[in-house]
This record gives sequence, C-alpha cells and structure tokens, in this order.
Amino acid sequence: MKYKILDQADTVWAGKPLIWFPLVDSTNEYGKKLGMEKTVHGTLILADGQSGGKGRRGRSWESPAGQNIYMSLCVEPEFPVEHAAGLTLVMALAAAEAIREVTGAEAGIKWPNDLVLHGRKICGILTELCFRDEQPVVVIGVGINGNSTEFPEELRQTAGSLKLATGKEICREMLVAAVLHKFEAFYEKYKETEDMTLLKASYESCLVNRGREVCVLDPKGSYRAVAEGIAKNGSLIVVCKDGSRQEISSGEVSVRGICGYV
Ligand code: BTN
Repeated sequence: MKYKILDQADTVWAGKPLIWFPLVDSTNEYGKKLGMEKTVHGTLILADGQSGGKGRRGRSWESPAGQNIYMSLCVEPEFPVEHAAGLTLVMALAAAEAIREVTGAEAGIKWPNDLVLHGRKICGILTELCFRDEQPVVVIGVGINGNSTEFPEELRQTAGSLKLATGKEICREMLVAAVLHKFEAFYEKYKETEDMTLLKASYESCLVNRGREVCVLDPKGSYRAVAEGIAKNGSLIVVCKDGSRQEISSGEVSVRGICGYV
C-alpha cells in the first residue's frame, strides 16, 4: 500500500518532496546517490520494503515489506559539517516523541540513537554523510519496527515492535508524518546553537540510560560507570566509581546496560 502521508505531514520542508518505493535496496543508499546529483534538502525516501537494508557497524537491517517504516531524510545543513553528527540525536528525539504522541507508548532512547520499549529495540538510526561538490549532504535513515511480530533467531532476544508492545496495529502514515513534524521543529532549534543545548532537557527525559549503570566498551578496556546525561555536543556523560566524570563520544565506544540490552 502506498503511503499517503503528504496530507498529514504538516511541515514546511521536511518530507518535501517524498519519493516512495514499494521495494528499494536501501533508502539511505538511494538518498546518498540522489544527494550527490542534486539539491535534496528535505527530501524523504520512503519504502514499503528494502532488499538491502543497512544497520550500523556494517550489519544488515531486517526490512520485510508491508509492516514497518523504512525512511531516509536528506538534510543539507547550513552549519559546519563537524556539527552534523548531532542530527542523529535530533532524529532519535523526534522519533521517540512521535512514537509517544501517536501510540501513547513510552519509547525511550538508548544513547545515542536506538529507541527501546519494554527493554527491546524498536527503532534504529543510521546517519550517513556524502558530498555534492563542496556541499555536505546528511542522510538520516530511520527504521521503526511498527507491525512486525516475528524476528530472525539472532534478534529474538533484543528486537521488539510497536505492535507487540501495544497490542495495536500501527498506522505507518501517521507515524512518519509525526516524525517529520517533530524533526523539523527540533532541527530549527539545533540550528540556533549548532548543538543540543536547546534539546538536551527533552532528550534526557527520554534517555533510558540516565541514572543507570552502563558498561563502557572502550577499546582501551571496558569499565562500569553511571550515566548522568548528555553534553551539548551529544556525548554521554558518565560518572566513574572514583567520582570523576567522562564524556563518551559515540564514535569511540558503545554502551551496554548491565542487565540485558538496555
Ligand atoms: C541500526 O543498526 O540500529 C540502524 C538501522 C537503520 C535502518 C534504517 S531503515 C531505513 C534506512 N535505510 C537503511 O538501509 N538503513 C536505514
């Protein structure tokens, strides 16, 4: 079924134009190819299914047709490209708040950009960067497990979906429209300071790691610490056993909960 979200997406630029596919290899790959050819700020690539959905760290992303949301929003930031990485957190916040608004389910953010519900991952975000001449193009790919009820063996312990968590079929159109609406508003705030200053409080109110012990998987050696919140550049602030504070940047380390996935 083709998404008819344009009427519902109450936005100025996010999701305009919208390019929809019944099946595509990866909405991120398509977005990057397009972005290297022409101006794409605001363009949304949306697919019913993906044949080569990509996850982070070179993993694949399960993308069965007709069930979930696979979308990539292209952004051409007006600010220096060094600040573009924070857009991943902006999208995580937009998706969490959109899910809360549309489904009533208290989706949380596992730093930096996984969304979790009832301890299971329901959404992943993959942000990629390419250039058209000197112009940076940021492609923010979002996969939301909306109506999937079965997962491959290797994901069964960690993956969940909105339908499994709420017992209700999710309206994908409404959710995509809400994500775009939130992202557009949050992007304008991010742009003002070129960091998370104005979004930090909202982000931290969704942060499931906050106040919890995490295991920081540092290549120099793992250690345990308590997550306190985020810095304005999006790093995770953790308090170590000796009381010192460390800023963890997402490129360097990943964070695991002590009990299970979160
Ligand atoms: C993760 O590993 O957590 C990130 C998953 C990102 C998946 C989305 S689905 C839409 C977009 N297209 C892709 O190929 N990947 C992203």
